[in-house]
Amino acid sequence: MKLQQNISILLLIVSFTIQAQQNPAREKFVNELMAKMTLDEKIGQLNLPTSGDITTGQANSSNIAKKIEEGKVGGLFNIKSVQKIKEVQKIAIEKSRLKIPLLFGMDVIHGYETTFPIPLGLSSSWNMDLIKRSAQIAAQEASADGINWTFSPMVDISREPRWGRVSEGSGEDPYLGSQIAKAMVQGYQGDDLSKNNTILSCVKHFALYGAPEAGREYNTVDMSRIRMYNDYFPPYKAAVDAGVSSVMASFNEIDGIPATCNKWLMTDVLRKQWGFKGFVVTDYTAIPEMSEHGIGDLQTVSALALKAGIEMDMVGEGFLTTLKKSLDEGKVTLTEINNAVKLILNAKYDLGLFQDPYKYCDLNRAKTEIFTKSNRAEARKIASESMVLLKNKNQLLPLKKSGTIALIGPLADAKENMAGTWSVATKQENSISLLAGMKSVVGTSAKILYAKGSNLDDDAALEERGTMFGKTLHRDSRTKEELLNEALKIAIHSDVIVAALGESAELSGECSSRTNLEIPQTQKELLQALLKTGKPVVLVLFNGRPLVLNQENDTVPAILDVWFAGSEAGLAIADVLFGDENPSGKLTITFPRSLGQVPIYYNHKNTGRPLGNKDGVFEKFKSNYIDERNEPLFPFGYGLSYTTFEYSNLKISSTKISTSQTLKVTVDVVNTGNFDGKEVVQLYIRDLVGSVTRPVRELKGFQKIAIKKGEKQTVTFQITEEDLKFYNSDLQFVAEPGQFEIFVGSNSNAELKTLFELGQ
Ligand code: BGC
Repeated sequence: MKLQQNISILLLIVSFTIQAQQNPAREKFVNELMAKMTLDEKIGQLNLPTSGDITTGQANSSNIAKKIEEGKVGGLFNIKSVQKIKEVQKIAIEKSRLKIPLLFGMDVIHGYETTFPIPLGLSSSWNMDLIKRSAQIAAQEASADGINWTFSPMVDISREPRWGRVSEGSGEDPYLGSQIAKAMVQGYQGDDLSKNNTILSCVKHFALYGAPEAGREYNTVDMSRIRMYNDYFPPYKAAVDAGVSSVMASFNEIDGIPATCNKWLMTDVLRKQWGFKGFVVTDYTAIPEMSEHGIGDLQTVSALALKAGIEMDMVGEGFLTTLKKSLDEGKVTLTEINNAVKLILNAKYDLGLFQDPYKYCDLNRAKTEIFTKSNRAEARKIASESMVLLKNKNQLLPLKKSGTIALIGPLADAKENMAGTWSVATKQENSISLLAGMKSVVGTSAKILYAKGSNLDDDAALEERGTMFGKTLHRDSRTKEELLNEALKIAIHSDVIVAALGESAELSGECSSRTNLEIPQTQKELLQALLKTGKPVVLVLFNGRPLVLNQENDTVPAILDVWFAGSEAGLAIADVLFGDENPSGKLTITFPRSLGQVPIYYNHKNTGRPLGNKDGVFEKFKSNYIDERNEPLFPFGYGLSYTTFEYSNLKISSTKISTSQTLKVTVDVVNTGNFDGKEVVQLYIRDLVGSVTRPVRELKGFQKIAIKKGEKQTVTFQITEEDLKFYNSDLQFVAEPGQFEIFVGSNSNAELKTLFELGQ
């Protein structure tokens, strides 16, 4: 044990030395600055208040301003506008003793004013170039408005659709989640943080925040380490490997210890095992919240957080108000405080703030680089790639740009809801509603009639909770019958009905857990009434999570899942509805048949008693339900196109590879339909025998390809030993020799398969 500790300490010293050698200029600068700092000024750097009520002109007289002057603030977050930020930075530079510039953070989650689809939607594009591009544009716009740090990406794997924040992540898969984590970090940070259009990224919420018991926000998390390492940790690690500058601790506990004071997590895993060199910030007031967790008073929990490896205290002011006392009482050491301060100053140095504290405060950039025509055009493209066509019976879609179309539903004319949850910088009034988008795309060639049809929900209080932060649906005071009658009147005069239904923007997101995964009842009734007219109905589904859609799937001919597609949503949806864009999104999270199946995910284990038939027929004493099939309604990786793709000719370069060899896998994909299209070709493996049980399938590769109608493409994947590795029961990352199945196809039920062996 002692030896192990000594080795770890040695490794830490070596890694600090290497770091110092890597950037001697920074090391010298930061050391010299720290030599001038008082203890109070040091502790001040660890403090991250929110901007509170600062508005332009008031910055100088606010309570925050006083703290900044006294050197008690390291950064501020959620101030919007470069003017205000410049004013606040001026206080730090002109009035504080050591003129240390501030970090300015913000939740720039899926775009800034130009808003992209919610992250779950973005992930459904499976297009890493576009995802990275969305982060680049977000960084460009945010940095033009004074922001130099974003609290994104959120990479929490989740198998929990009740949890509202599935909307903010990339779904259930560790492999795909890792690719997206990397793309986002690279998009925000670029290859040079000191440029004025790149910003610090903060991967969150470390760790396991996506697995709260019962899907209830902020609830307890409890899971085995082997599951953490294999299924939940990979995207955080991928962000660290991609050079993310900061990490946000999660609110939940892990093994009974809140992440915010979990030394194993923050020091052993994050720094020692993964080599993270940046700084860790808490989530909002997470330090004082540890008293509610029952860990101790503010002084105790603050000391524990620092000692665990937390550098910055978001809003809690536990560090600010207690660390000095803890130092006096020997509860923390000066070295621990110094280490934290140094990591924060390093980040400021990397951003170039010491050279020019106003480098993100160019007032002209804000005027010319935000919500530009070209950014919006890119957002429109990206949004259309995020949409998932769930059903398209008799090729009802795409619609013709002619005749009369009845657009009905509470989400149809709802621009305030288009950006979705966590879009703090967007100007909701600028978003394009579906009604406006459809009108713009069809011009005068088709007639569009509109009626609201119903409110979001009969329960006004629920609607209010689901439409917070100005995301109103303008609740209609008419009765249900009045609303329905108006809708039916236009429906019967139309050639086709587009029903814009589902969730409102804030029915998902933080603290929007649901116990019911269906479309609200009143909208379901509206939909059934529309179907009764006998007109063809297209369901345009708005949602921030998987929904249970059995009834809709049984009764509606076409369903397009559009998530919340961002500021350009209306145009992008119309592009897809009318066939200017061919949908190519694929689900990144399983859609259950019933809430009772949750958690349900494709990469599950087989159990000792798997069901013996593929038809979902109940078998006694097998792992299944007496009242529901096992499989989901829509599996991971699923999504249709207006065209069809046929897979054939799956080949491998060898039936056996050694640990140093690469297996080449090829498959032919033919576009057999009538449209050019894009397809996400997916490769899954199954490790047939392991020292621990292995999932029935694991995604190990995917490629999004564009194929013209009639065209054939051969897609190649490379599999190496690295792809076959997993954490065993000793938490060693190993590939075990033996047989592996490979499946290739268009979703996680891919049927083309072959077998190979990994030798010794
Ligand atoms: C959320 C974080 C967010 C922070 C700052 C918290 O409530 O959990 O994801 O970054 O607030 O706004």
